[in-house]
Amino acid sequence: MRAKLVVGNWKMNGNLAQSRELLNAIITGTTELPDIVCAVCAPYPYLPAVQLILKDTHVVWGAQNVSQFDLGAYTGEVAAEMLLDFACRYVIVGHSERRSLFGEDNHTVAEKFKKAQGAGLIPILCVGETLAQREIGETERIIEEQLDAVIKLMSIDSLAQSVIAYEPVWAIGTGRTATPVQAQSVHAFIRNKIAQQNAGVAASVQILYGGSVKSSNASDLFAMSDIDGGLIGGASLIANEFISICSAAQH
Ligand code: 13P
Repeated sequence: MRAKLVVGNWKMNGNLAQSRELLNAIITGTTELPDIVCAVCAPYPYLPAVQLILKDTHVVWGAQNVSQFDLGAYTGEVAAEMLLDFACRYVIVGHSERRSLFGEDNHTVAEKFKKAQGAGLIPILCVGETLAQREIGETERIIEEQLDAVIKLMSIDSLAQSVIAYEPVWAIGTGRTATPVQAQSVHAFIRNKIAQQNAGVAASVQILYGGSVKSSNASDLFAMSDIDGGLIGGASLIANEFISICSAAQH
């Protein structure tokens, strides 16, 4: 039985005061949810504050990106070891905004996955198709390529120490959520693909859904057999929404 995981991806939002307020509300609002893991991925500058507030609580934390390089002359980058200094457990790699706005290709994403895992972080590997790709029937091929880049550089076994997030690009920040059946179908495809190479990894790996998850649609999504929680953008910035989504995962 896979535990449910709900991760807030704050993206480039908030300030220090708002972040503190949000974290305190999340701690209080999720204390009665013993069966799920609740996490936030905050902007880098707030990680020291996040660590201070969340340490010794049930809420865990991580970052939204990591460099594919070791320490060195890479202006503006943040290495995996640096994230460990702030006790991050998770780091998102290959978010579609990183892929489309910052030119990260499948190989770069796989390198980031490798550095994160090598440092002891749990990468949350994002995969997903654009609307155009879905409309021409390319969804599975695109996701397979995104997964294969990691499997080729690492191994199928490496996925056991990771989380996969299916985030259809057309559902991110658009208010247009994949239906539970649409999402389940892609999640099952991902799990079956992994099962062809390692049934144990396929059975244990958490596959999250992301893309316009709200308190109003979370329960139906989380009820699907291969959806193990959510990666939440906009709704993770609103304390009550995020807490309700976490509660939906508990039920
Ligand atoms: P929204 O929940 O705002 O659609 O964002 C989803 C996402 O990109 C999470 O990583």
